[in-house]
Amino acid sequence: MAPSVHLTGRVVRVEPAGHRGVTIVSDVPLSARPGQFVMLWVPRMDEKPFSLVADSPLTLAVVPVGPVTGRLQRLQPGDPLYVRGPLGRGFSLDGKRPLLVAGGSGAAPLAFLASRLAETGREVTVALGARSADELLLVERYQAAGARLWITTEDGSAGERGLVVSVAERLLANGGCDRVYACGPVPMLERVAALCRLYGVPGEASYEAYMRCGIGVCGSCDRGDGLLVCRDGPVFGL
Ligand SMILES: Cc1cc2nc3c(=O)[nH]c(=O)nc-3n(C[C@H](O)[C@H](O)[C@H](O)COP(=O)(O)OP(=O)(O)OC[C@H]3O[C@@H](n4cnc5c(N)ncnc54)[C@H](O)[C@@H]3O)c2cc1C
Ligand code: FES
Repeated sequence: MAPSVHLTGRVVRVEPAGHRGVTIVSDVPLSARPGQFVMLWVPRMDEKPFSLVADSPLTLAVVPVGPVTGRLQRLQPGDPLYVRGPLGRGFSLDGKRPLLVAGGSGAAPLAFLASRLAETGREVTVALGARSADELLLVERYQAAGARLWITTEDGSAGERGLVVSVAERLLANGGCDRVYACGPVPMLERVAALCRLYGVPGEASYEAYMRCGIGVCGSCDRGDGLLVCRDGPVFGL
């Protein structure tokens, strides 16, 4: 695992991601594994965890849900960025024919994984879901990675109407995938875990938790089973 460091850099570009989110491209060089995260410090506010969409230069996708993400959404090119990381354990890169299942802002770490897997010649299949077309994130990054992309929306405004797990089930039933990587809401991850068991395919998922220190000291991300999401995860086997 690469050593975690404090880094300061600047925002280079801010692009829209869905109708509310942004993709922030910085000039911070980082060496990280897909699934690892950084703690981003916003002066006079707080420090919060974010997955990497790319490591070098550091790229993040932020969907506003509260004070810190709301502030990050308003960043402009040239603004400073204060980063601590990379932190946590990332995804394995084991699958030869991997299936990536992304729901909502779970698209962020899996976009990084899709590019890394594609760079090493893997045939990457992605089931990408959101509530509606304007909440879909990072579609162009999956396309740029050359992934076979299946889009679902709950209201049918883009791709297939329904839940992303239904597409994942169809793809697993067809037998073309040998490893599953998932990130998204917990009910989605539970259904993906059940599919992995049903079809006998190993899986890994990235989980979110409330974090303060990010390094296994404060206990705020305790899963209740002796494991800490920041130190032992955020990626866990399904
Ligand atoms: C490993 C990891 C990677 C993440 N990656 C991203 C990312 O790439 N992009 C992104 O936009 N966000 C990501 N998040 C989530 C982000 O860190 C939190 O939503 C953060 O709390 C937002 O801060 P805030 O001040 O804007 O809102 P807050 O005030 O902290 O939260 C706003 C609302 O969301 C709720 N909330 C916050 N965190 C959680 C949680 N873990 N579980 C349930 N409810 C919660 C709060 O209770 C509150 O109601 C990630 C979190 C983790 C742990
Ligand atoms: S955030 Fe402090 S132990 Fe995980």
